[in-house]
Amino acid sequence: MENLDLSKLPKHIAIIMDGNGRWAQEKGEDRLYGHYHGVISVRKVVEAATEIGIDYLTLYAFSTENWDRPEAEVMGLMSLFVDTIAKEVPDLHKNNIKLCFIGMLDRLPEAAQKALADATAHTAQNTGLTLVIALSYSSRWEIIEAVKNIAKQVEERQLTITDINEAIFAQTLTTKGIPDPELMIRTSGEHRISNFLLYQLAYAELYFTDTRWPDFRKEDLIKAILDYQNRERRFGKTSAQIKSN
Ligand code: FPP
Repeated sequence: MENLDLSKLPKHIAIIMDGNGRWAQEKGEDRLYGHYHGVISVRKVVEAATEIGIDYLTLYAFSTENWDRPEAEVMGLMSLFVDTIAKEVPDLHKNNIKLCFIGMLDRLPEAAQKALADATAHTAQNTGLTLVIALSYSSRWEIIEAVKNIAKQVEERQLTITDINEAIFAQTLTTKGIPDPELMIRTSGEHRISNFLLYQLAYAELYFTDTRWPDFRKEDLIKAILDYQNRERRFGKTSAQIKSN
């Protein structure tokens, strides 16, 4: 932790929490056992992000593609989300954490929708870490919704085609008001984006680790941030231009 350069922290870290199923199966357990242990990692990483001073943390908890998993796993995950959120909200609130959810939330069971709405309302005024949970999320869906929204505004003459720019587009995404992630971490050895924040990750530094999500701890988060801090972010410019600035 003392090796971190606090003046060069990413404001926003996004994480694809992968490997729960394999972690459990390697132990001869049911996949849901891995998801239960994944919640412990969520808690540890949220604590660490708060302690380090990260402003935004986005966790990919469930994709629209995950609806196609066996029914028992999907039902088990839904109960886990509802129970975890209900159980953790008082502590999150005490720590000044603001919870937000992005995704096709109307596909979730009603109990889950209610738990999310309650958690969002309860923590809405908090000013510490913003914890964004992507649930039933698909980036292609989000982009298509944004396009439809902008087309509707043009049709209703609230916007002209020449008004459309990156700022307008970003305001139409579910992450409205949240800066783009500078660092994206994926656990468990897969090197894919998997329909996660495709527009927002345009210039993110990507960090992949073989560690399975249930084994991911504060030290792993710090390692990822240190790796990020040692990269040269050029945004299309040359190295010489960056150094002369
Ligand atoms: C991916 O691992 C993980 C998921 C689909 C679920 C992640 C959910 C949690 C960690 C619970 C979080 C809870 C809250 C409230 C945020 P996988 O099952 O795809 O693993 P595999 O690739 O090894 O099969």
